[in-house]
Amino acid sequence: MTLEKNLSLLLIDDEEVIHDSIGDFLREQGYQVTSAYSGEEGLEILKEQSVDIVITDIRMPGIDGLDVLKEIHRTSQDVEVIIMTGHGDLSSAITAIRNGAFDFFTKPVKLDELLIALQRTQKYQRLKRENEFFKQKLSQLDSFIKVDSQTKFIGKSKEIYQVLDIIKRVSPTKSTVVIYGETGTGKELAAQLIHQNSPRADQVFLAVNCSSMPENLIESELFGHERGAFTDAKRTRLGYFELAHKGTLFLDEIGDLPLSAQAKLLRTLEKKVIRRVGGEREIPVDVRIVAATNKDLEVEVAEGRFRQDLFFRLNIITIHLPPLRKRGDDILLLADYFLHKLAKDTQRKVTGISPEAKKLLRKYSFPGNIRELRNLIERAILLCQGDELTPEDFPSLADSGASPLMASKGGLPSLDLNLLEKMALEEALSIAKGNQSKAAELLGIGRDALRYRIKKHSLIVQ
Ligand SMILES: Nc1ncnc2c1ncn2[C@@H]1O[C@H](COP(=O)(O)OP(=O)(O)OP(=O)(O)O)[C@@H](O)[C@H]1O
Ligand SMILES: [Mg+2]
Repeated sequence: MTLEKNLSLLLIDDEEVIHDSIGDFLREQGYQVTSAYSGEEGLEILKEQSVDIVITDIRMPGIDGLDVLKEIHRTSQDVEVIIMTGHGDLSSAITAIRNGAFDFFTKPVKLDELLIALQRTQKYQRLKRENEFFKQKLSQLDSFIKVDSQTKFIGKSKEIYQVLDIIKRVSPTKSTVVIYGETGTGKELAAQLIHQNSPRADQVFLAVNCSSMPENLIESELFGHERGAFTDAKRTRLGYFELAHKGTLFLDEIGDLPLSAQAKLLRTLEKKVIRRVGGEREIPVDVRIVAATNKDLEVEVAEGRFRQDLFFRLNIITIHLPPLRKRGDDILLLADYFLHKLAKDTQRKVTGISPEAKKLLRKYSFPGNIRELRNLIERAILLCQGDELTPEDFPSLADSGASPLMASKGGLPSLDLNLLEKMALEEALSIAKGNQSKAAELLGIGRDALRYRIKKHSLIVQ
């Protein structure tokens, strides 16, 4: 560990020799050391000067070391105290530690041990300060993390705190933001949060999925068209850019935008004007762009599927939403949040999650992230017999030792194909957000085969 040499120390002792030995030694080590020759003098100095660590003798005439310690704790949270005791005075040392001293030494003080103790104190102090800072920031963010009256952005992990911190800083600006993250990590929710906390909150937030628009219509969808622009264009139609004028346009799955539309998008972003398909006029638009993708745009650029100039134009501020499995106890916070929300919506009297079920949730990897967790909780609420969710309510997470898919038969392990099939279906449906064609494609089976299996396992599809 490196030492912060500019640390400010206060050395309190009535013996000159201590100041000569310890004080000078610490100064030589680069510390700023102030000397006090009595408890009274020490406390006076503390009133006037900022001190990080106090090293004090216990036995002194007048105010002794234990009183100094008490007074410091009464007036300051931030100063740590190291106590020096005479040889054999263990009971005072114990009292001092009980009263909150960070460490103690018996005289004669060994200088190398003192240095180590200072390092330890410093480390503790730094962690404590960071923690305070983190808590304070979080409480400031607390009022901010509301998306709307019904939806909240849940999360207290360091990873999510960092995300919220960026969101808080970029929201008031007009800067383009790209949100990266696996499916179901909350990209759209984060985009809404940015909008809700921007000066555009009263204006429209428009979400457009770039992967679900038919390629020949994308241009017209984004920029609109004039009447007669093509055979089906019976009327003039406004595109998303015009519709989102003054608001926020959320371009979801931006990595799937075809190259032809990318060129037009770049032009619009640079010139802040659009031209409707079949139109001559340039129409000014004032739109804040937030884009999202579960692809790595740099790879897309390298492989020629995404224009580099557009990438640079968009990728000004980036937010990386971590997968749920990397958010620690946020899994349980979110599970609780969905439980209460969904139990209320469905008027079920389920009020908690059993410790065993929590363990199961904490262990699971959630490839479909928060959407999958939400679906799991929703299903569990419907299955639940009592007032608490138990492992039985999460059959797809069934935890039977080494592998959830091994069911023991006559002492021999055997693969539970039925359960395996059910889990695969649930996972595919969750990743495909209930879209059966997509789920069938993921599983490599036909739609009819998928429907048959959904029925067979009585799965709930949304
Ligand atoms: N931090 C969070 N707190 C509460 N709910 C969340 C959070 N993150 C996501 N959700 C919820 O999880 C679901 C999925 O989130 P969202 O649609 O924003 O994910 P996504 O990253 O856009 O997914 P996809 O890539 O599949 O489009 C939504 O119901 C959303 O409200
Ligand atoms: Mg999304």
